[in-house]
Amino acid sequence: MRKFAIWILLTALSALALSIHTLQQQYEEHSAEFRILYRDVALKLSQHDVILTLLSAASDPERVKKAFPQILILKTRAPEFSATEPQLAGNGTYWLNGQHVSLLIDLNQVLSTLPQSNAFRTLRLYWHDTPLVVLGDATTTSYWQWHKALVGDSQPFELSAGNDPDWRHLPWISMLLFALLWALVIAFVSRYLMYKRQRVLADLRAQFSELTRLNTMGEITAGMVHELNQPLTAILSYNQTALSLLKQEKSAEIAPLLNAAVVQTKRISALLTDLRQKMHSDHVPLQPINLKPVWSRVLMLLENELQAGKMKIINKIPDDLPPFLAAPQWVEQILHNLLLNAIQAQRDNAPKSAWVEIAAYPTERGITLTLTDGGPGLSEQALQNVFLPFFTTRQGGLGLGMALTQTLVQGLNGDISAENVAGSGARFTLWFPFNAEEQTP
Ligand SMILES: Nc1ncnc2c1ncn2[C@@H]1O[C@H](COP(=O)(O)OP(=O)(O)OP(=O)(O)O)[C@@H](O)[C@H]1O
Ligand SMILES: [Mg+2]
Repeated sequence: MRKFAIWILLTALSALALSIHTLQQQYEEHSAEFRILYRDVALKLSQHDVILTLLSAASDPERVKKAFPQILILKTRAPEFSATEPQLAGNGTYWLNGQHVSLLIDLNQVLSTLPQSNAFRTLRLYWHDTPLVVLGDATTTSYWQWHKALVGDSQPFELSAGNDPDWRHLPWISMLLFALLWALVIAFVSRYLMYKRQRVLADLRAQFSELTRLNTMGEITAGMVHELNQPLTAILSYNQTALSLLKQEKSAEIAPLLNAAVVQTKRISALLTDLRQKMHSDHVPLQPINLKPVWSRVLMLLENELQAGKMKIINKIPDDLPPFLAAPQWVEQILHNLLLNAIQAQRDNAPKSAWVEIAAYPTERGITLTLTDGGPGLSEQALQNVFLPFFTTRQGGLGLGMALTQTLVQGLNGDISAENVAGSGARFTLWFPFNAEEQTP
């Protein structure tokens, strides 16, 4: 709509400029024609003065009239006629009196024989505001007017001409071409502006995706640090113990420690493989999962921490719990993060009072799992923000464990929530669909 208004405005302005220019040209042409007409009329009238001085009463009137058709009568001057002023005789005729002779001159004849007389709509000869002769259409006033007094004492008339602009000869084709030109210019400019805007948007989008990429990389790195921290600490502790046993020459006890270190190393390798898989595609291979062995493996991985905290483990996973389709590495990571939090939450518990209970039961479309601990529970703030990245109340904590856990649960189309249980500590309730590929939570 705005483009259309601009086009109309530009077209109107250029049409106006073209019209003014053409009208100016027409006016100049008519002015030039008026000047020629004036010169010719003045010439003819001055001829009359010359004729008067040359003629005598004896001159042959017929010869004079033949040479000058505007002279209607040639006769001896009547004594009552003034020799200085012409006497009007009606219908555009007047007597011009000389010393001896008088001439009856027809101004109609004078004007109509001049070629420029046709160039004007109205043509007049005046004397003292009395029209002597009027040629053309004098019913309405013309758009342009020209006036000029004829010099000379004997016939001091005034010539006036009027004309109208020739609207038909305005440059209509040029106006049309201008309208087309403006349409093209506007189309081109708006195209260019649109292209520019799209480029700015594309640049912004590129910047945004670069930022997102950097963010994602940051999250992945933070996630890696979080997941690798515990197994690396465990390996360090196993190896240090093995070394000191070696010094004490208790080589029989070394093998289980090295085995445990191997298991933790394999876990690191599995985590890295899993991470690489996640970076390459969102699709992870699903397998039927039995919760019991996965839980046992998590207990083994956190053996050091469990022993250090003297944690009691209550396992309420029924033997006949149906398997569900999921990525085993993911479920292991989820349980690992939850158990590690439960252990860390109970570091300040009274001796031998730390415990964790895992329970699971099938529901209509999947498996519900709860993990309850004997810790202080989640603070009011933690209850609201526990799944937010970088929310932590723990000294040295990253605040990523639960955020990663939630991402993994949701990646399996499951659900996770946190609450406090009266008389116990925190409880996390998880739900996994039997088939993560078919189900949406
Ligand atoms: N079992 C729990 N009992 C009490 N508070 C908990 C428990 N689990 C989580 N929280 C609270 O939620 C916060 C966020 O947990 P999250 O695992 O995301 O981060 P973190 O353990 O502090 O750090 P990290 O990134 O090393 O896991 C914890 O700092 C703690 O305040
Ligand atoms: Mg944690």
